[in-house]
Amino acid sequence: MHRLLSFASLYSPMSTNGNVIDVHDVHKTFKKRIKALQGVDLQVGAGEIFGLLGPNGAGKSTLVKILMTVVRPDRISGTFLGNSVGSKQPLARVGYLPEHHNFPGYLTGLQVIEFSGAMCRLTKRERRTNARRLLDRVGMTRWGSSRLNSYSKGMLQRVGLAQALVNDPKVVLLDEPTDGVDPVGRREIRDLLLELRDEGHTIFLNSHLLSELEMVCDRVAIMVQGRVSMQGTIEELTRDSRRHEVRCIGPCPDWITALPDATAECLEDECRISIPTDDVEAIQPIIDRLRKEGRSITRVHAVRESPEDLFMRAVVDESGTIAAPGAEIKPRRGSGGDAP
Ligand SMILES: Nc1ncnc2c1ncn2[C@@H]1O[C@H](COP(=O)(O)OP(=O)(O)OP(=O)(O)O)[C@@H](O)[C@H]1O
Ligand SMILES: [Mg+2]
Repeated sequence: MHRLLSFASLYSPMSTNGNVIDVHDVHKTFKKRIKALQGVDLQVGAGEIFGLLGPNGAGKSTLVKILMTVVRPDRISGTFLGNSVGSKQPLARVGYLPEHHNFPGYLTGLQVIEFSGAMCRLTKRERRTNARRLLDRVGMTRWGSSRLNSYSKGMLQRVGLAQALVNDPKVVLLDEPTDGVDPVGRREIRDLLLELRDEGHTIFLNSHLLSELEMVCDRVAIMVQGRVSMQGTIEELTRDSRRHEVRCIGPCPDWITALPDATAECLEDECRISIPTDDVEAIQPIIDRLRKEGRSITRVHAVRESPEDLFMRAVVDESGTIAAPGAEIKPRRGSGGDAP
């Protein structure tokens, strides 16, 4: 009884606010010293593709494993598909592709998908039909009867993705789905994710491939050392960085420094002027003045932070230090062991 009570107190449900995943204050420490998650707050809306980014050891897979009830959090509140996190109830409506999955090599692609269907309690007929349809969807029909130990890494990922879809899940959790997949395969997976979203599935994606996330995700979160440091659309997260660049022949004009926040940089025989505005009208007086001075303008373009810049901004702290993988609790001096 006491055990039940203490377990329940870990998982306090909250209102879902229409979100499929709505978790707050998630904490997990491994071996009393590795702080994998340190108060994560994260919301994923129904029908969106959500990308979770972060450096190695940031805690991305741990969060997914907590949602799948594979890892038990130290503390969490919130819901997953309307149920308290930790409940097995929503799992029948969830598809999961684990990171570094290790399905037995003696099984064929078809068998892996059918096995996954059996775990979701599909009938034999449903398993058969779904497995064949999904093999086709991930471009693996030709290899369906071959054993996994003859597959390449990309082929394993494709079958892994197919097994995650066998129960026609409402939410699909994909941990590095394009790991080891070639560019053509990555594009096919990207198209498949967009199709799945259009069919009404919610997709939660862990990935390191920034450009890929930009192409496919409706919203992203960046996790660093067990905390979500940014969350929103790429457009929202890069809005403040938007500016215009004007390039002209010749040295940099002196008057640029008098403009608020504008900067000028001398390149070989050009000057690059950067103006912190996304309003093209606001830069017209600068262009007019340059023309009046008889300068040739070689380029005018709008610039914004790339996903890589955004990522670096999230992982590099004010002192310029890059966040190290995982956060460890340092042993106290003289304690001779792990800190409590
Ligand atoms: N079972 C475990 N036992 C001990 N430490 C663990 C365990 N699982 C994860 N960790 C640690 O927790 C931290 C977060 O790991 P996690 O796998 O969640 O990171 P990640 O963001 O998925 O990293 P990657 O991008 O490399 O996949 C790391 O420091 C990792 O070493
Ligand atoms: Mg991981």
